[in-house]
Amino acid sequence: MKNDGEFYLQHALAAYFPLRILKEMSSKLILLSVVALTFSYLALAYEPSSLQDFCVADPNSSVKVNGLTCKNPMQVQADDFFFSGLHLRGNTSNQLGSKVTPVFATQLPGLNTLGISMVRIDYAPWGLNAPHTHPRATEILTVLEGTLQVGFVTSNPDNRFITKVLQKGDVFVFPVGLVHFQRNVGNGYAVVIAALSSQNPGAITIGNAVFGANPAIPADILAKAFQVDKSVVDQLQAKF
Ligand SMILES: *[C@@H]1O[C@H](CO)[C@@H](O)[C@H](O)[C@H]1NC(C)=O
Ligand SMILES: *[C@@H]1O[C@H](CO)[C@@H](O)[C@H](O)[C@H]1NC(C)=O
Repeated sequence: MKNDGEFYLQHALAAYFPLRILKEMSSKLILLSVVALTFSYLALAYEPSSLQDFCVADPNSSVKVNGLTCKNPMQVQADDFFFSGLHLRGNTSNQLGSKVTPVFATQLPGLNTLGISMVRIDYAPWGLNAPHTHPRATEILTVLEGTLQVGFVTSNPDNRFITKVLQKGDVFVFPVGLVHFQRNVGNGYAVVIAALSSQNPGAITIGNAVFGANPAIPADILAKAFQVDKSVVDQLQAKF
């Protein structure tokens, strides 16, 4: 006699397969199929699947939604799906010696709701894109010029540091949410193009968020968290 679970599984599957085929399937195969079907429903995209061809951002709308409201499709033009300027070198004359040029939904309205975006990052010799995370996106990067050390740290409790030196043409991925960086380890100039799995990936730069919060996180909290003297925290907070 069949147990209740198997009985239920066969009836659930009857919606997908004709009875004749079902009878030919072994119990194990049925079970595997149900598991596969269940997972196919659980495998939601990070940004919800689009219910329309596109939803070009209307920057003038005052309606607040998760993303940006759609422009009238009849008024959409080719330029709404277009951005020009990633051939231009970013200005790296700053403290860190790096510059990110974003192409997010703000810069390219056609990206709205599509769950993808792009950046160009320029690095002066020994320039650093400081440790940061993207709360909403995985990042995949390819080196167009130069030599970069890249790295990320896995979450608690391991906090494993994973790092590699990349050359021109190399590709590296930073999993969503993990703290990562890139540093130019050559005396020449370096540039990468990276894609991110959100129209608006967000960025939290660790130093700025922790020591440059506005208003400041009380110094005694940071002194205890980092197990250093309060004067060290004061010094760091003054830098950010
Ligand atoms: C937004 O408003 C400005 C000023 O009224 C107008 O020039 C522009 O075309 C509008 N943009 C869109 C996408 O409707
Ligand atoms: C680059 O940025 C620096 C610092 O903000 C500025 O002084 C300089 O004029 C900029 N250079 C160019 C070419 O825009």
